[in-house]
Parts: sequence; structure tokens; C-alpha cells
Amino acid sequence: MNPPQNNQQVHLVSRPDPEPSLNNFALVSSVIPPVMPGQVLVRNKFLSLDPYMRLRMSDSKSYASPQPLHTVMHGSTVGLVVCSRNDRFKEGDVVLGWGGWQEYSIGGTGDQDGLQIIDAERLPASVYLSAAGMTGVTAWYGITKVIDPQAGETVVVSAASGAVGGIAGQLAKLRGCRVVGVAGGAQKCRFVVEQLGFDACVDYKAHPDANELAQALRASAPEGIDGIFENVGGDVLNAAIANANPHSRVALCGMISANTRDVPLTAPRLLLTNRMSVKGFVIPEHPDVWPEAMNHLASLLVSHKLKYRESIAHGLGNAPAAFLGMLKGENFGKQLVQLH
Ligand SMILES: NC(=O)c1ccc[n+]([C@@H]2O[C@H](COP(=O)([O-])OP(=O)(O)OC[C@H]3O[C@@H](n4cnc5c(N)ncnc54)[C@H](OP(=O)(O)O)[C@@H]3O)[C@@H](O)[C@H]2O)c1
Repeated sequence: MNPPQNNQQVHLVSRPDPEPSLNNFALVSSVIPPVMPGQVLVRNKFLSLDPYMRLRMSDSKSYASPQPLHTVMHGSTVGLVVCSRNDRFKEGDVVLGWGGWQEYSIGGTGDQDGLQIIDAERLPASVYLSAAGMTGVTAWYGITKVIDPQAGETVVVSAASGAVGGIAGQLAKLRGCRVVGVAGGAQKCRFVVEQLGFDACVDYKAHPDANELAQALRASAPEGIDGIFENVGGDVLNAAIANANPHSRVALCGMISANTRDVPLTAPRLLLTNRMSVKGFVIPEHPDVWPEAMNHLASLLVSHKLKYRESIAHGLGNAPAAFLGMLKGENFGKQLVQLH
């Protein structure tokens, strides 16, 4: 097949001020450069949209370095090798890599793109961007290495219907815990209990008052909380800490509510009173756990012991709107874009 000539890309062209908007992105056409020795050309099929991208859009201090303006939005992809000048890959291989927000990407040289062949017959290719990939490994790390919950303990998971939260709660269930989700809206809460098998789910949108939210959580976790898998922060984290047991553990994974409103801790004294451990973590800093975590997750997925849900937008041009929607909770499960 003749290599394609033209590429569509989404560039970051301005920074959020203060909220991110569609104007921060531009759809750009470009010519695909020739594939050089050692390189491969990948036709990206799925693009992963992740909350950390919001941090990269700004140039303020965070764990994610700022994305330079007028460059292709960074992001992980799965796609098909359509042209190879690298002995490690052949045309037709399905690969996972950092292809970015674009229809075609060139990779294969160095570690920058982290290109690796995946087994798309064992699991659907898109799942390597979610439950069997980065978001699954994040859930696995927080449960296995931080909270390490024991059978009979209670674990609370926020953003429970989402990509990380849904897997984290199911992993805690597999360990014999009582698992309580926190999610936005009755439909998401129903899914978390009926489909993912959590024991209960609190709809935080039904409890805009922070004290009421803490009471609702208490009703669902009557024996107190031993593990907090935190994806949201703010009032949700305060409600969980208010119900924490002595020696409880907090896996501080994400603070997505801080995108809209930074809420301070209301009772930090409880961290001491309850001798709690709080560990923030960023999963790319733990490459040592990835092989074990990915193997474990893949085997649970293949044996249908883990369930996942995807929200799929279609077409690269819809990626910015899908991304902004995910930051507001319009996604229902892992947010992806199908590019081809
Ligand atoms: N530490 C790491 O290495 C790492 C890696 C991956 C992800 N993360 C973090 O994990 C969290 C979940 O990421 P994900 O990829 O699985 O996304 P996700 O949960 O699939 O989607 C984001 C969800 O966040 C919830 N949300 C948004 N704004 C909120 C608010 N103001 N209050 C409460 N909930 C809000 C929404 O769910 P509702 O509709 O239920 O509100 C939305 O669906 C994020 O905080 C992310 O930054 C961390």
C-alpha cells in the first residue's frame, strides 16, 4: 500500500484562561514526512483522553510538564502499523504508543513513543488504553500497593463509574472488601452497583451540602472507612476523611474537582487522630509494577472478572469537545476517540 500523504492533527494553540475551551485547540492539516530507516508509520485507531492533559494545557506548577504551544496534543493511542522500516515491527501490527492527537504518527525510534506491539486478539485494542493499560495500572497500584485492603474492610472509591475508579472498586471487591462508590448522578450510581458490583454508591450531586454528603457516606459505610481511593478531592475527600477509621489509608490518585473549585481540607486533625497514611502517587513514576499489574489485569479481563465501560467519540475533530466534556463528567466510563 502507498503510504498516505496527509495527516490531521489537533494542536494546543493557547492556554486556559482560566477555564479550558474549544478555542485552546486547532485542527491542523499537515503532510506526512517520509518514513526514514528505523521508523514506522502508524494509523492511529483510538486516542485516550485523560484528565492529566488538563494539567499539561496550563503552564502552572504540577506533576505534568506543560505542553508547548502550537504542537500536537500529547496522548496515548493504539493503531495499526501501515509502513515499517524497523525490523521490530511489520505492517499490520497493532501497537500501543504515544501517538498524540493525530490520525497518523511516526514512531519506532528511541523510547519517546514507547511503541509496543499488543495482542489485539486477546483483548480489544481499545482496552490497552484503559482497563488493561494506564488507567487499570493506576487503579491496581492504588489498591495493591497503597491501600492494600484486607477482606472485611471498607473501601471508598470516588469517580467510581470512571476509568480508574471502576477498576479500583472491582479490585477491592475481589479482595473481599465492602466497596462504596461516589459518583455523579443516579444513572452512574446504578451502573456502579448493578454492573460493577459495588455494595453501594453515593450520588454526590444529590448532596451539595458537605455535611450531608458526609452523612450519606456514613449511611453506606456504617463500620467506617479503612481505605480511600481518591480521584476527586474537595468535598468528596473531606466526606471520606470524616468517616475514616483508625489506621486507614488514602491513595491520593487525582483531584479532578480542583479544576473547578479548590476546597481545603476541613478537618486535617483527623489525619492524626486516626493515624492515617496518605500517599499521593503518579503512575508513570512506578514502571517496576507495570508488567505485573498489566498481566494481572489482562487475566482478570479475559476471565470476565473485571468489567469496564467506554465512552467513544468519533473523529479527531470531536476530540476537544469530548475532552472538555470528560472534565465535567459527561463521559460514562473511559473516554476514547475513535479516529478511523
Ligand atoms: N495518579 C495517577 O497516576 C493518575 C493516573 C490516571 C488518572 N488519574 C486521576 O484519576 C482520576 C480519574 O481519572 P479517569 O481517567 O479515570 O477519568 P474518569 O473518572 O473516567 O473521568 C473523570 C470523572 O471525574 C468526575 N468529576 C469531574 N469533575 C468532578 C467534580 N468537580 N467533582 C466530582 N467528580 C468530578 C466525573 O465523574 P462524575 O460524573 O461521577 O462526577 C468524570 O466522569 C482523575 O482525577 C485523574 O487525574 C491519576
